[in-house]
Amino acid sequence: MIEALKVSEVRTQVEMARSRGEVVGFVPTMGALHYGHISLINKALTECDWVASSIFVNPTQFNDPNDLLHYPRTPENDWSLLVQAGCHLLFHPSVPEIYPEGLISPDFEFGPLEKVMEGAHRPGHFKGVATVVFRLFDIVKPDVAYFGEKDFQQLAIIRSMVQQANLPIRIVGCETIREPDGLAKSSRNVRLSPNERSAAPIIFQNLSKAKGLIDDLGPDGAKNEMIKSIEASGLFKVEYLEFADADSLQPVASISKEKKSRVFIAVKASTTRLIDNVELL
Ligand code: PAF
Repeated sequence: MIEALKVSEVRTQVEMARSRGEVVGFVPTMGALHYGHISLINKALTECDWVASSIFVNPTQFNDPNDLLHYPRTPENDWSLLVQAGCHLLFHPSVPEIYPEGLISPDFEFGPLEKVMEGAHRPGHFKGVATVVFRLFDIVKPDVAYFGEKDFQQLAIIRSMVQQANLPIRIVGCETIREPDGLAKSSRNVRLSPNERSAAPIIFQNLSKAKGLIDDLGPDGAKNEMIKSIEASGLFKVEYLEFADADSLQPVASISKEKKSRVFIAVKASTTRLIDNVELL
């Protein structure tokens, strides 16, 4: 695997792959890699000839400076996981390499998509995500890019950004990878205390029974029941719990078979914030 620190090195390598007629896949990450990320690399390797990944802890998407400061960083482990997976190039840039002085980033408008859930609770977060992903796409110019459905709203924002900028990039959403006990894999899981970690599967357990609860108790009753169950240990506080349309991500008052909807949640533990979502089937 080639490690590139500079934009110019990435561009050279991508041009070489293209001149060999290869399809270029891309998996952007913020590092602290786990099997969720590697599953994206694996998927990219099945669909593309040449796969690049990036590790960049993007300061512009952190609305909480403490979260940025404590975001896990595991460069050696990341390197060996990517090598084992068969990734061809790792782009590991500095902040000035991504945001050089004078860089002008397009101002995307996401409308209602960024006014709910993560957008409502993390002001500026999605503008930061769109800015960095646009910049990374401009550097790597992939044919296909892969993102996890755990960050379902981020995936919708990226699809909208690609549409607004008319980029010739196919965006692939990949299913959430979970621990054996159901907790969605996340780089932030290592920041849970042992007690929080052992109680955390309650989140997915509740998401999994959401549809049944809605059928029995209606959306409001289901929400109350789920929040009560998740907060019962005293270790977690539910920041939001929404039943939302799978395309517009706007809240739905009822669940219908005709239109796909999902349940979305953000939960705060002592120092860690966890998000998850599942389809309401
Ligand atoms: O999902 C992430 O890890 C980040 O938000 C991304 C897409 C790499 C942008 O920094």
